[in-house]
Amino acid sequence: MPMIAPRSPSAKKPAPSALPLVRGRALSIGGADAVAETTRGSSWSAPAGPVVGLDGPRKKSIAPELLATARAKHASVAAYARLVCQLLALGAPARVVDKTQRAMGDQLRHATMAFGLLASCGEPLQPRPLPEAAAPMPTGEALAPAVLRDVIHHGCVTETLTAHWAARRADVHASMEIREYYNQLAEDGARHAALAFETLTWLLADAPSLAPLAAAQVAALEASDLPDMKAVVLPLFEAALRPPAPNT
Ligand SMILES: [Fe+2]
Repeated sequence: MPMIAPRSPSAKKPAPSALPLVRGRALSIGGADAVAETTRGSSWSAPAGPVVGLDGPRKKSIAPELLATARAKHASVAAYARLVCQLLALGAPARVVDKTQRAMGDQLRHATMAFGLLASCGEPLQPRPLPEAAAPMPTGEALAPAVLRDVIHHGCVTETLTAHWAARRADVHASMEIREYYNQLAEDGARHAALAFETLTWLLADAPSLAPLAAAQVAALEASDLPDMKAVVLPLFEAALRPPAPNT
C-alpha cells in the first residue's frame, strides 16, 4: 500500500492553496490530460448537505479546487472504463479486471460528491460532453506497452500521489464535509494505487519482455520535479520491479 505521511498535530499546517491539487487517474489522450468543460446544472451532483464551517468568501475560495477535482474525477471514470477494455484485450485475470471496474465506480462517486459539494458552495455545475472518452485506443503490439506506460504514470504515480495529497488536504480544511471528502479520496486512492502496482506486477509476469520499458519509465521518474515523487512514490517501484527470486 502507498505510504501516507504521518500527521503531526503540532506541525504548522499549510493553506489548502499551497498544496498540490488532487486529480486521480488522468484521461491521457495523445499525451494531454482531457477533462470536460462545465455548464450550469445538477446532473452530476450527489445530494450534499450544507458545507458547515465556511462563510461565503471561504466557500467561494474553495470552489476552484472542488471544480478541478470534480472535472478530473469525471475524466477518470473514462480512464478506468478504457483500462477495463484494454485489460480484457490483454487477457488480464478477473481479479484485476474486477478491481479496475470497481475503481471506475469509485471515480464516479468521487466526481458526483465533488460536484455536489461545489453546488453547496454556490456553484451548481455539471460536465459537458467529453469526446476524448471515446478516442481510438492502441491495438495489436502497441497495446501492452501503452497500458504499461499508463499504469506506471497514471496508476502507480498519480493514484499514490492522490492518496498522499488528499490526506494532507483533509488535514488542513476547516469544513468537516470537505475533510470527509478528502479522507474518502485518500482511502480509495490508496486502494487504487495498490491496484496499479498489482496490475504492473501482472503485466510484467505476463510479458517479461516489457521489463526494460518499465525500468526506463521508472528511471525517467527520478528526474521528475513533482512534489513527493522521490520520498513517496519511487520506493514503491523497487519491490514491483525486482526480478522474481529463482526457484531453489
Ligand atoms: Fe483513484
